[in-house]
Amino acid sequence: MGVPQSRTEMILARGLRKEFTVRVKAGRLRRHKQVRAAVDGLDLRVDRGETVGYIGPNGAGKSTTLKMLTGVLTPSAGEVRVCGLRPVAQRTRLALRIGVVFGQRSQLWWDLPLRDSFDLLRHVYRVPAAEHAARLRR
Ligand SMILES: Nc1ncnc2c1ncn2[C@@H]1O[C@H](COP(=O)(O)OP(=O)(O)OP(=O)(O)O)[C@@H](O)[C@H]1O
Ligand SMILES: [Mg+2]
Repeated sequence: MGVPQSRTEMILARGLRKEFTVRVKAGRLRRHKQVRAAVDGLDLRVDRGETVGYIGPNGAGKSTTLKMLTGVLTPSAGEVRVCGLRPVAQRTRLALRIGVVFGQRSQLWWDLPLRDSFDLLRHVYRVPAAEHAARLRR
């Protein structure tokens, strides 16, 4: 007998959906509310040991998906389990099992080594050299 399938499912999403209500301009003073789906019916399964890239254009819904997988955002519809846990309801337990890094696209430059990005920001925020060096060492 093999390992039960559910044991190897690390990430499972079925019909995952997230809607945001946005205010859109309708004339000079008028705004009306509009519901937009940022993620619309995502089915995803990632098993133990798998490495997966999740790619798509700006605004495709990648960050929104990750926020639902980590319990930061509550899905509007659908099912999601990560490490067998319900991300929103069991967020603290889940946090002990996962690691997440969200990019700060305004503060890191593709073409620069990380160290140079930090050096540039040191000047922008006027961080004294000694303090900057200490932070880098840490
Ligand atoms: N808090 C929010 N309120 C309203 N709309 C939002 C909110 N967060 C995201 N959106 C919208 O949802 C859609 C998906 O955004 P999301 O940030 O998930 O995209 P992304 O794939 O991560 O994009 P990028 O490649 O730019 O990081 C976009 O249209 C975005 O404007
Ligand atoms: Mg994003």
